[in-house]
Amino acid sequence: MKNLRHVALEILFEVHRRVGVFAQERIHAATRTHQLNKRERRFLTELVLGVLRHERTLDRIAAAFCDIKWDDVGPRAKEALRLGTYQLLWLDGVPPFACIKETVDAVRDARAKPFVNAVLRTVDRVVRRVPIEQDRGGASPRKRLEIHHRKACFFPKEVFADPESDLAGWLADVYSFPDEATARWLARHGRETTVALLEKSLETPPLFVRVNPLKGTREELIEQLRTEQVACGEGSRPESVRVLVPAGELVATRAFTSGRCTVQDETAMKVAPQLAPKAGQLLLDLCAAPGGKASHLAELTGDQATLLAVDRDEARLERVRETVARLGLKSVSCMTADAGDPATIRAVTPAPYDGVLVDAPCSNSGVLARRPEAKARLVAADRAELVALQAKLLDAAATLLFPGGRLCYSTCSIEPEENGDQVRALLARNPELELLAEEETLPVQGGGDGGYWALLRKKGQGLPAMTRAR
Ligand SMILES: C[S@@+](CC[C@H](N)C(=O)[O-])C[C@H]1O[C@@H](n2cnc3c(N)ncnc32)[C@H](O)[C@@H]1O
Repeated sequence: MKNLRHVALEILFEVHRRVGVFAQERIHAATRTHQLNKRERRFLTELVLGVLRHERTLDRIAAAFCDIKWDDVGPRAKEALRLGTYQLLWLDGVPPFACIKETVDAVRDARAKPFVNAVLRTVDRVVRRVPIEQDRGGASPRKRLEIHHRKACFFPKEVFADPESDLAGWLADVYSFPDEATARWLARHGRETTVALLEKSLETPPLFVRVNPLKGTREELIEQLRTEQVACGEGSRPESVRVLVPAGELVATRAFTSGRCTVQDETAMKVAPQLAPKAGQLLLDLCAAPGGKASHLAELTGDQATLLAVDRDEARLERVRETVARLGLKSVSCMTADAGDPATIRAVTPAPYDGVLVDAPCSNSGVLARRPEAKARLVAADRAELVALQAKLLDAAATLLFPGGRLCYSTCSIEPEENGDQVRALLARNPELELLAEEETLPVQGGGDGGYWALLRKKGQGLPAMTRAR
């Protein structure tokens, strides 16, 4: 029998140790390595994403019941305390003694086991949990936590910041968010929208797939998915299907493996159509991996354009190759390169492009429900680094465009510096570009992710793609 807590702890440890490790990808890999069944995979996902979503809150609670300073607790013991506390307070149906025992068993360091055991037993003993309808109110917000609008937890001592004197600190504690980012959102959006954004970041996001029109209609896809016992229905976009099973189960279906669809959120589905890509055009995706938007561009042209998919990460680019092969697309070729250096790209295809997409690396602040590990990087220093990289990629893109060609810039961020401000700075540096349209989506609106796209055009009129010498 596998100890799933052990697997969860290893994933959490790795996610925290190395920047750029995606929890969802690790869960996927662990599912294969340990041959997990559907139930085990769901539980592992719940444990890993649950801890990452609520990490700061879990730290505040566990720290309050440790007899040593939180900073002095070792990294593996910290992960175990987060994992144990999450199960004790957030999950129903796991008996506390079993959850504590299994979590302690999963701790690798024998010397840390008694400590983890003692803290978790204290949390279980002293934290009162009641169904929300039995909460008679009156408890200090520093000693109370509401969980999923279903349950309230009461602590015998003050665990969270004081909302009277430090609203941002209290919101950051109970919604598990970085201080600076919470204060920024409060200043920009006000309390109501900030709370809605923070709540959204803790929810399990809906799952959508995009139909591959080269392999059938949306109705046919829905029919096939239902034949494979996947509950689903039409999404709000014509190419979108809402799927009601976890992604790990969807990707095992024949509908998926035979290339009838691609996992993509509806906000991301809005991006590729902005370029209005056409058969015969030369198209470039400068940040292509894992290939969600590159494959969308190719599908929109009926697989009749020439599309170069660039990414600097060779391992991630391999995922683009897999995606286009699965979808049966022939018009996409891949290239590993630093897209900030347009000379490398020009060396491959000297002609300028009709359409360039820059779906830039970003803070991910619009998709934190999906990527909770990205919360740790919502700090000014990381953002400044990303903004500089985005600007470099956009400048490179501008030099690769044909006159009359279109540039689409997109992010899954909701931070102005990465979005509208970035585009305005680009326009100031490159007067030959003009802005045609832009849109920011907050993750509170509708069911989808947050994000941004802007459509720009290089002034002038070039020859139509089909007649130009290449
Ligand atoms: C937001 S992801 C792209 C997602 C992709 N467009 C999709 O829809 O599936 C950003 C990508 O940019 C790549 N990247 C970051 N810096 C880069 C650079 N200097 N040159 C090329 N690719 C880069 C990353 O490796 C990452 O795969």
